[in-house]
Amino acid sequence: MQHLVAPSLLAANFLRLEDDIRIVNRSEADMFHIDVMDGNFVPNISFGFSIIRQIKSIAEKPLDVHLMISRPDIYLEKFREAGADWLSVHYEACDHLHSSIQRIKKLGMKAGVVVNPHNNIELIRDVIPDIDYVLLMSVNPGFGGQHFIESTYGRIEKLTGIKQELNPDLLIEVDGGIDLKNAGKLVKCGVNILVTGSTVFRSKDPVETISKLKHPF
Ligand code: DX5
Ligand code: ZN
Repeated sequence: MQHLVAPSLLAANFLRLEDDIRIVNRSEADMFHIDVMDGNFVPNISFGFSIIRQIKSIAEKPLDVHLMISRPDIYLEKFREAGADWLSVHYEACDHLHSSIQRIKKLGMKAGVVVNPHNNIELIRDVIPDIDYVLLMSVNPGFGGQHFIESTYGRIEKLTGIKQELNPDLLIEVDGGIDLKNAGKLVKCGVNILVTGSTVFRSKDPVETISKLKHPF
C-alpha cells in the first residue's frame, strides 16, 4: 500500500484553526492527527473533547487521535462520540491494555498502541495480533518541533519483523521530527503512516509540503 500522511493539528494556528483544517481537506493528506495531552502523562496540555468535536464538524478526512493521557480507558466512549476514527493509547498508560484495545475496536475505531522511545518493542508483542496499528514515537511525547531520534530506524526494523511474524496487516505509524529529508527513508524502511506537525504548518505552502511528503521519491 502507498503510505499515508497525517498532519498533526498541534502545530496549526489555533487562531485560524478552520483555515488550517481546510488546508488539510484540500491537500493529499489522508487523515488528521490529533494530539491530546493531559498535563499528567506528559508535561503539556493541548485540547479536549469540545475542540475535537468542532474539528470533526468540518474535517473531510478521518481523525487519528493520539491520547497522551493517563487512564485513557475512562474516556474511550467520549473520544468516539467526539469524532475519533482511529484511537491510540500509550502502552504504559493502560492498566489493562488488552481490554482497552478490545473496547476501542468494539466502539468501531481502529485501535493503536503507542510506544515511547525508551519502551522495548517486545513489550507489545502479545497484543500485535489484536491491533490495527503501532504508533512508534520518534521523539519524547509532549511537544512538537523536536529532533527525530535516529535509533527509531532500528526500532522500525524490529517491529517489521514482529509484524511479518504475527500480523502482516499491521500498520506502522511514526510520530515526531519527520521532515522532507527523512520521510523517504522512513517509507523505505516500511513505515505506513507519517505524522508531521511543524514540517507542514511551518512551511510556506502546506498543501505542497503534504504533497512532497506523499511523494518523497
Ligand atoms: C508529540 C506529538 C506529535 C507532534 C509532532 O508529542 O505526538 O504528534 O505533534 O510534531 P512534529 O512533527 O513537529 O515533531
Ligand atoms: Zn502525536
